[in-house]
Amino acid sequence: MKFFADTANLDAISEVNQLGILDGVTTNPSLMAKEGIKGEENIINHYAAICKMVSGDISAEVISTDFEGMMKEGRRLARIADNIVVKVPMIKDGVKALSALTAEGIRTNCTLIFSSGQALVAAKAGATYVSPFVGRIDDIAGNGMELIAQIVHIFSNFSIKTQVLAASVRHPLHIIQSAEMGADVVTCPPSVILQLINHPLTIYRYLLNAQS
Ligand code: G3P
Repeated sequence: MKFFADTANLDAISEVNQLGILDGVTTNPSLMAKEGIKGEENIINHYAAICKMVSGDISAEVISTDFEGMMKEGRRLARIADNIVVKVPMIKDGVKALSALTAEGIRTNCTLIFSSGQALVAAKAGATYVSPFVGRIDDIAGNGMELIAQIVHIFSNFSIKTQVLAASVRHPLHIIQSAEMGADVVTCPPSVILQLINHPLTIYRYLLNAQS
């Protein structure tokens, strides 16, 4: 299973990347804003910096909600680097844009997936990735992991190549459960990936060794 960092913070990306376990990055307009990156040129330059740092796929999200706007933005983002994947929302114009960008050879990540029907539509439109938001489903007393299992099952029934990218992943258990369900990718804050490393028994043994 691939690990993507869900952040636009270069230091945090670099910290996980240096461990040799980072396969890509996902971002969105709010993560960019959190880093104080504003304005089209600054945003493009920031994406370019991430693409240079990490060789895997980097999702860059469109902010338009109409077909023409998404196409214009999508083409612009795709020109930044070969490893850019254009992130498009699961709305009707978004589905049209997924199909059109795919026809142009531009890879896509369909975001804001909350049902297996939406995932199936995105896959039919040629999405490279679908991003079900597990944490936000859990937030409303649903079961995000059941959705991951359902999508993985449906895609496997038809050998669909679209990759299942578990998003809105909030804690290490979400990562482990995504792996159990067969998700192709998880994306989460780098701190959550780093939490996987820690175990009290490892630390205990390490401390004992250090004392002897
Ligand atoms: O991966 C999507 C992510 O950025 C949303 O996460 O925690 O705001 O639901 P969250």
